[in-house]
Amino acid sequence: MTYAAITGWGAAMPPSVLTNADLSTFLDTNDEWIISRTGMKERRVSHISGIEMAIIASKRALACAGLEGKDIDLIVYGSCSSDEQVPNSSSGVQAAIGAKHAASMDVNTACTSFLYSLSTATAMIRTGVVKKALVIGVEIISPFMDWENRNVAVLFGDGCAAVVVEASDKQEGVLGEQLGCLADVRHTLRVRGMGTAYCNLDVTAGITSWDFDGQEIFRHAVQGMVAASAAVMKKCGVTAEDIDLVVPHQANLRIIDAVVSRAGIPAEKVMLTVQRYGNMSAATVPVALTEALDEGRVKPGSLILMPAFGAGLTVCAHLVRWGDRVTPLGVSDADFPPAKKTALEQVNAIRGKKAETAVRSAEGMKHARLVETGVK
Ligand SMILES: CC(C)(COP(=O)(O)OP(=O)(O)OC[C@H]1O[C@@H](n2cnc3c(N)ncnc32)[C@H](O)[C@@H]1OP(=O)(O)O)[C@@H](O)C(=O)NCCC(=O)NCCS
Repeated sequence: MTYAAITGWGAAMPPSVLTNADLSTFLDTNDEWIISRTGMKERRVSHISGIEMAIIASKRALACAGLEGKDIDLIVYGSCSSDEQVPNSSSGVQAAIGAKHAASMDVNTACTSFLYSLSTATAMIRTGVVKKALVIGVEIISPFMDWENRNVAVLFGDGCAAVVVEASDKQEGVLGEQLGCLADVRHTLRVRGMGTAYCNLDVTAGITSWDFDGQEIFRHAVQGMVAASAAVMKKCGVTAEDIDLVVPHQANLRIIDAVVSRAGIPAEKVMLTVQRYGNMSAATVPVALTEALDEGRVKPGSLILMPAFGAGLTVCAHLVRWGDRVTPLGVSDADFPPAKKTALEQVNAIRGKKAETAVRSAEGMKHARLVETGVK
């Protein structure tokens, strides 16, 4: 039987930090509210594109696995913030790392995109279609954030990480997963203004408004992740006591606490990054995994549970058995170029551009052809 082991990992976190105090310079919010409701203290804003972040993370993951781009058969780019609609973003990474023989695809299931991408690569390795894959979780949310909306602007950040997955005859990598989508509540999280539904309307690219029902998402996220975690543990014949580490999606500290306590897993077994990075959508799980490895929290043979949810509302939980190696084989010198502006200066520049065209776009968006759910 062929398995798909994770043999390389690397994160690419933008250096510019946006604090709660920065947000309260232009929003009616404050540090106390944000920390008590979400656990978040700061997040990152990228000064380079999503593909450029993905290239840095990919080079670091490849070096960690002792591989080069030419060794890779498949690249899966998990993200809901592609730099362009066409061509796909994975091909941009492919060209930069010299993966001449690879197949390349983008997967968008919003915040679960990395884990759905990991399932895709694992399935293709286990069925013998490919042998070595690069799986990326990347998100650049700052350019399309609705910065004037305090309900969403405080919650998200930019970031990226990648892993290398290789065929193995040992029982390691993804042992099982539970995937699903609560499509009836897809209206609870929608970014208006991006996508073909808005083409030919009086809408300017990049001018967005977010539909966001935080409490509904919260409720479904907790229920969905608890159910998916129970299902995958049952499928794999393990119990909560067998779990060594939980690397969950990091949308809100209260959501994570609710999920692990209902799953019967002690809080000290949970890897957290939400305080420092906020919700980086597809990037949260691979960044947290990479940092758990850097901190020595992943041991040879560790059993790791990864529950997540995202717009759609997609839900999933993966069980991963780590292999023998928990240290990198090599290190890449790929890095971010210096940032010329602070995070707050970058955000204010985006806000300034949006303010010029926002009113015109809000009118145009009303005419978009969308599949609506939850319409009373
Ligand atoms: C968004 C979320 C943090 C809000 O927390 P909450 O405890 O549910 O807060 P509420 O929605 O009840 O809002 C309470 C009040 O705070 C206000 N508020 C919202 N955002 C605020 C902010 N940034 N600063 C200050 N006040 C804020 C609201 O307007 C509301 O005021 P009101 O009572 O006068 O109407 C929480 O619901 C959540 O995390 N949901 C899941 C979201 C998510 O994960 N999305 C990503 C999907 S991957």
